[in-house]
Amino acid sequence: MLSRAALRTWAAPSSRLFSSSSPRLTKVAVLGAGGGIGQPLSLLLKSDPLVTSLSLYDIRGAPGVAADVSHVDTASEVIGYSADHLDQALEGAKVIVIPAGVPRKPGMTRDDLFNTNASIVRDLAAAVARVAPTACILVISNPVNSTVPIVAATLEKAGVFDPARLFGVTTLDVVRAARFLAGLSSANPADTAVTVIGGHSGATIVPLLSQASHGKSVQGEAYEKLVHRIQFGGDEVVQAKEGAGSATLSMAYAGAKFANLVLRGLNGEKGVMTPTFVKSPLFADQGVDFFSSNVELGVNGVEKIHPIGELSAEEEKLLAACLPELKKNIEKGKAFVA
Ligand code: NAD
Ligand code: LMR
Repeated sequence: MLSRAALRTWAAPSSRLFSSSSPRLTKVAVLGAGGGIGQPLSLLLKSDPLVTSLSLYDIRGAPGVAADVSHVDTASEVIGYSADHLDQALEGAKVIVIPAGVPRKPGMTRDDLFNTNASIVRDLAAAVARVAPTACILVISNPVNSTVPIVAATLEKAGVFDPARLFGVTTLDVVRAARFLAGLSSANPADTAVTVIGGHSGATIVPLLSQASHGKSVQGEAYEKLVHRIQFGGDEVVQAKEGAGSATLSMAYAGAKFANLVLRGLNGEKGVMTPTFVKSPLFADQGVDFFSSNVELGVNGVEKIHPIGELSAEEEKLLAACLPELKKNIEKGKAFVA
């Protein structure tokens, strides 16, 4: 027979489970879960203890991915939804990650994806507006510089746009910048974090190496090469994959990393900060009303948009090249919905 003490010890975890201090129940939905990014991203989200329920949707293959991922021995439940069940997939979702859409092939720019991906993203955003209007939306689908304004305009049309809850995922640029800088300086990428501002394509990607401790010392040709590699890291992968798509595994890693930061903010953790592409006042007076800079994340999503800080002369030039291109990309997205 069990002693009273043994019974108390056994009972403690379940009483904690139902206490008011238990973590929030957080359903995360992945739209495009059957794809090259969607599958590994779903696997990584299954491993995130802050995700309590995972809803996997795709026009192709999501139930199979869900059956597979659901066998991983973490606490979250996983449900897959096929083409006709988008609304059910979105019901109750607090965070919605969107990697749905076609990837680049060699020779294409991200903007070349606009014609196909704009309507995919718009239609998914319209469903989110209808079913989960207060969810945080994390847009991965390219061209991010245009798809984020498309989602914003679609939510605005539906009367539910909250700028604090819409994010373009630019984390892969941040991940690459840290990795490439670490490679140059023989440091650990954990010690070479770089703030990357602007947008997510070529010249709109602006790494602020002068603000990174190991970045300051990179000069001359090495600096030019490093900036180019950060701006065009996506092309490196597209070329290496020889027509089979673009970055999927590193993007899944970056997407899961960013989703975890958003969840930590939603759960009340203080001081969670990362660059992300949001509706921003920083360059709105120049017609650039979406911009990536360091953003503090909190219980309502965007808590605070930080200024970009002091730039080197080279970074001033990069920013000057970024803004007009970014403006065009944003306007193209807005015009599509209007
Ligand atoms: P993929 O073709 O492997 O997968 C895309 C998935 O989207 C497919 O499973 C497809 O069935 C699904 N899909 C298409 N239309 C859909 C719809 N209406 N609803 C739901 N699902 C739909 O492509 P991928 O390699 O996973 O890339 C996806 C997108 O992410 C591309 O646009 C790519 O350019 C972009 N991307 C962005 C970043 C970034 O840093 N933000 C990085 C890499 C890739
Ligand atoms: C990337 O940066 O890897 C993605 O935007 C995919 C691409 O098309 O390069």
